[in-house]
Amino acid sequence: GNSKLAQTPPMGWNSWNVYSCAVTEEDIRDAADALVETGLRDVGYEYLVIDDCWMADETDSRGRLRPHPEDFPSGIDDLADYVHDRGLKFGIYSSAGTRTCQGYPASLGRERLHAQQFAEWGIDYLKYDNCGDHDGRDAITRYAAMGDALRETDRDIVYSICEWGLNDPWTWGRNVGGHLWRTTGDIVAKWRAEDDEFGDGLVQIIDRAAEQGSAEYQAPDGWNDPDMLQVGNGPDSGQSQHEAVTVERPFTKAEERTHFSFWCMFSAPLMAGTDLRNLSETTHEVLTNEQAIAINQDPLGIQATRDRVYGSREVWSKRLVDDEAAVVLFNQGEEADEVRTHVDEVNVPVTADRYRVRDLWTDEEWETDGELSDTVDPHGVTLVRVSPAE
Ligand code: GLA
Repeated sequence: GNSKLAQTPPMGWNSWNVYSCAVTEEDIRDAADALVETGLRDVGYEYLVIDDCWMADETDSRGRLRPHPEDFPSGIDDLADYVHDRGLKFGIYSSAGTRTCQGYPASLGRERLHAQQFAEWGIDYLKYDNCGDHDGRDAITRYAAMGDALRETDRDIVYSICEWGLNDPWTWGRNVGGHLWRTTGDIVAKWRAEDDEFGDGLVQIIDRAAEQGSAEYQAPDGWNDPDMLQVGNGPDSGQSQHEAVTVERPFTKAEERTHFSFWCMFSAPLMAGTDLRNLSETTHEVLTNEQAIAINQDPLGIQATRDRVYGSREVWSKRLVDDEAAVVLFNQGEEADEVRTHVDEVNVPVTADRYRVRDLWTDEEWETDGELSDTVDPHGVTLVRVSPAE
């Protein structure tokens, strides 16, 4: 069976946000090497996933998927060996329709055949999209067909459902064998993207997590997926070359920390999506913050709730194991601002006389009798771990 493959949110790297449809096997080998060299593998980024566009224009005569002859000439099993040899796991992409979102052959009606192929190739993770014709079949049926097919193979394969949050997948994703399910449309590398037909910016995705009612469905082995990380991306990254996406400026340091902090607070899957060969110091520091990652990988797997909104300021929190909590003070405004709350207002699980507070971006520590406040940069957060003091 495929249960218990994702007791904590999956972490890894996916090709889409950086390479879009131009991905090649060279890029995948480079990413595998870079995951090791940058230290990302060693802090938990384990799954290397090729997104759309790895396949040839047509299947073989039996309906099996073939790798694109020019972009993936060595074949997928060869690439899987390369990835596995570096201590990583290997993921691939298909769609629960006749075609992928970029028009390549996909898996509707051929679920068993393709799941078998994936298992033979040594695949450990499948991202399964929702594009192409659906042959009149509803989403749950189409996703269950692939979930069953994966379970019938002799391999452990993490099942990532990419159905864009339609039909409330948090209510059925687990039942069809999913380990994670997208709760949103596509994320683009922007703070806000109100005018962008291609997807949503950070703030919109964060708002949706507070509003859509998916939080209570999340638990170990079944994760809400607000889409992959855009940390490190901006006007020059691959996905922004997509015709519908216009990215005006790179994220600021505060914005990169905000993006990563929220994905950690959500216990969202952490799929990096930037060019790992050219990481800035800031992006590297953000992606490898082990104290933030520990919040993401906390065994309880709780998705943070928004506890307070006032003006452009927000307070979010979640309970952690061992009577601890994580709290975010978020300043959406354009000027530095003080954001404040009190342990009584947030998900701190125990009452104590004093609490120890640790800032997970600056490493500062202090004690409080309950008041939590800080001056927060524009578009920034203060991310703290709160524990009862001895
Ligand atoms: C959809 C998905 C994206 C990506 C593209 C690939 O838009 O939501 O994450 O996989 O397809 O074409």
